[in-house]
Amino acid sequence: MMESLRRRFSDRLKKINEFFHLLRKSLGYAPRSALPIVLGVIFLDSVLIAATPLALRGAVNELAGHAAGLALGYVALYVVLEAASAGGTAAFINRSYARLEYGVRYMLTTQAYHHLLDLPQATYLTRKVGQLTTIVGKGLQGAVSVQQALIRGLLPAVLQVLLVGGILFGTVPPTIAIIFVVFVVFYGVIFRHNLLLIMAGQRECVSADIEASALATDAVINHETIKLFGAGTELSTRIDAAYSSSRDRWISYAGMTAKSFGQTALVTLTCFGVALYLTAEQTLRGAMTVGGFVMVSAYFLRLIEPIRFLFGGVGRLAGGLVDFQQLLGLLSEPVELETGDPVLPGNGPLTLEFDRVAFAYPGRENVLDEISFKVPAGRAVALVGASGAGKSTIARLIFRLYSPDRGAIFVDGVAIDRFTPAAIRAAIAIVPQDTVLFHDSIAANIGFARPDASAAEIDEAVCLAGLAPLIERLPDGLETIVGERGLKLSGGEKQRVAIARAILKRPRLFVLDEATSALDSATERTILDNLARTTAGVTTIMIAHRLSAIRAANEILVIDHGRVVEQGNHAELLVRDGLYAHMWRAQTEHS
Ligand SMILES: Nc1ncnc2c1ncn2[C@@H]1O[C@H](COP(=O)(O)OP(=O)(O)OP(=O)(O)O)[C@@H](O)[C@H]1O
Ligand SMILES: [Mg+2]
Repeated sequence: MMESLRRRFSDRLKKINEFFHLLRKSLGYAPRSALPIVLGVIFLDSVLIAATPLALRGAVNELAGHAAGLALGYVALYVVLEAASAGGTAAFINRSYARLEYGVRYMLTTQAYHHLLDLPQATYLTRKVGQLTTIVGKGLQGAVSVQQALIRGLLPAVLQVLLVGGILFGTVPPTIAIIFVVFVVFYGVIFRHNLLLIMAGQRECVSADIEASALATDAVINHETIKLFGAGTELSTRIDAAYSSSRDRWISYAGMTAKSFGQTALVTLTCFGVALYLTAEQTLRGAMTVGGFVMVSAYFLRLIEPIRFLFGGVGRLAGGLVDFQQLLGLLSEPVELETGDPVLPGNGPLTLEFDRVAFAYPGRENVLDEISFKVPAGRAVALVGASGAGKSTIARLIFRLYSPDRGAIFVDGVAIDRFTPAAIRAAIAIVPQDTVLFHDSIAANIGFARPDASAAEIDEAVCLAGLAPLIERLPDGLETIVGERGLKLSGGEKQRVAIARAILKRPRLFVLDEATSALDSATERTILDNLARTTAGVTTIMIAHRLSAIRAANEILVIDHGRVVEQGNHAELLVRDGLYAHMWRAQTEHS
């Protein structure tokens, strides 16, 4: 019995702690100077609001006693206090609060997107894009709602409760002041209870929302595939189902909140009624003045205003906390470690060495078992092997998108984890197997590799990548917008943009992962010649299925079942008559 009580108590405590932790976190994003100003003005406003009924009491009492001069003085004070609060401080709160709110929005959005960009590749692959952007968008709104409910709802309400409580104890019989305290305590208990309940309800609704919008965004991103496979109806049905589940949850949530708001209204009304009844009675008995009655009624009425704000505010607060919590969860996902030396020494071509590297993707069996090879500075090494053999995985490990489970990778004789991922990536350029472009101009997509490149350098890269004829044909030339993910270009054109981008980077190590796979043989020949000239003297790793594209490599490594099974140049491997010779014959016989 005691044990279960203790557990419940500590559970509650944990929840309250979590609640305040989130509030503190959200305030942590506020600009420094904004918060004290807002708090100061809100305090001043609360004092004005709490003082106004006192002036009203004075006015009524002096009017009842026909003291014209004093009465007019009180009336004037009443008007000034009311006007100062309604006009002056309220307007000032709006203005200073805007600085706070937009400051928080700015800080939080930029931090969230910086963080997203720094997340490791593996984290990205477990999430849908729609999920990430929804979490950021809603989380931001959530943080703003939390602050609004806290600073403009809860804080003024608490301040006014304290001030009014103090004034009541000093001016009216204790029974009435005690009713006020009872009211506040009851209200507090119900408020807290509802907040926790509503938060739990909202959490369910929000996760349904995120799921639905992730599904819809994924569908929009893949609209072309959906059209090609005639899967529009199927996807519409799934989107309908996801959103109707979210709709149903919100509706049942609204029912729940209506109930809890009803309870709060009942408590408020009861206390208000009892307090006014007792005050009226005291006034009739002569224990209180008519002015006192008017004042008590004004105080309880005043309290209804912040409490009404809380009615709406509790939903917004709870919803905001839930959304903000999701964003904080995302923000606490570990980013790529940027430890190590931020620059690679030297500036010539790199040597690259894999020493017994083993690697498996999370939750999968080994892709690489024991890969060892060495590429001397300035030489070209080709990786060949069946689809799924692990060739692109080797490229990802060089780029430190993942880390080996065993063994080590060295550049210029130094283990790559001694450098930051950014340092490694700055020295290497890749033409990836799948090129995805920014929705921007061709020039921007190429220049992205080196923002300080001149127009002449971009032109040169364009020529070497065999893009010049295309650029001449396009009415907007280099300024042509490539469309979402580059979809307005053909596969081979996209690939050549990627080649131009890699050339422009002037790396110390080239990784060409199926760099010419989408090109016709004649174009491939020209570009391979250009590439050979560009990469002459630069260490190069070439990955290709079409063996004609790599036969000129100084050395060819054949990857099979996570190991290097053959190694040598084209002629040597043919003589050896192993897997490579088999693949070569298969390809030359077909063509
Ligand atoms: N992010 C990932 N998570 C889990 N498994 C992955 C991931 N990426 C690739 N794989 C798996 O790892 C294996 C090797 O993939 P990899 O892309 O390295 O092959 P590849 O040799 O480049 O093949 P291809 O010639 O078809 O490009 C494949 O079986 C693939 O399914
Ligand atoms: Mg691959």
